Amino acid sequence: MSETDETPGQRPVPLPVDSPIWKSFFTVAPLVLVGTMEAEGHDLAPKHMAMPLGWSNYFCFACSPRHATQRNAQDTGVFTVSFPRPEQIVETSMAAAPRQAEGDKPSLAAVPTFPASEVEGVLVRDAYLWLECRLNQVVDGFGANTLIIGEVVAAAVDERSMRASEGDDADLLAESPTLAYLAPGRFAKISQTYSFPYHTNFKL
Ligand SMILES: Cc1cc2nc3c(=O)[nH]c(=O)nc-3n(C[C@H](O)[C@H](O)[C@H](O)COP(=O)(O)O)c2cc1C
Repeated sequence: MSETDETPGQRPVPLPVDSPIWKSFFTVAPLVLVGTMEAEGHDLAPKHMAMPLGWSNYFCFACSPRHATQRNAQDTGVFTVSFPRPEQIVETSMAAAPRQAEGDKPSLAAVPTFPASEVEGVLVRDAYLWLECRLNQVVDGFGANTLIIGEVVAAAVDERSMRASEGDDADLLAESPTLAYLAPGRFAKISQTYSFPYHTNFKL
């Protein structure tokens, strides 16, 4: 970018791309808990680089071969995704506690779960959306990271968060707010929202 690209009040600061740029500003992301099964029981890990992949029922998240989540998903062929509510931010953080020397994560005891229905796994109680996924692909080649893709084979949404054709979406989100992760290191409770101003001729 050159100085001529500047608009009043705006001054682009170049960020060196020979190292990761992502800690120099905030971006909005979801925050989910990915569940996998391992020898000792289950594992849960927070992921913010996570999203639906396209319009069909696929879900993906960035992971790393160093994380048990990836090894577990590859060993079992499945994973679950729970979308926590803002009130569950501490539980969500607990799931990223370091493992003990024996390899277990005792902090997971503070995150109540219930069994998944279609895959062998657990889902987080009091979340607002639950996905059960069969592993579709693990794509590597993104530095230290991988992209884990699953096909959603079962899903459920808490009744309070389910959109109804006759309902008001703004009211739904005001009464049942969603959690956003503002990377790095902040979060937001989203309860005040607005209709997207689609162009009249917009078609998906
Ligand atoms: C708020 C938050 C967001 C995170 N997002 C991701 C992510 O998107 N991808 C990832 O690989 N790790 C992410 N992590 C780190 C892992 O979830 C964490 O290292 C986890 O403990 C790994 O556990 P595991 O070895 O049991 O898989 C995140 C951690 C936190 C606290």
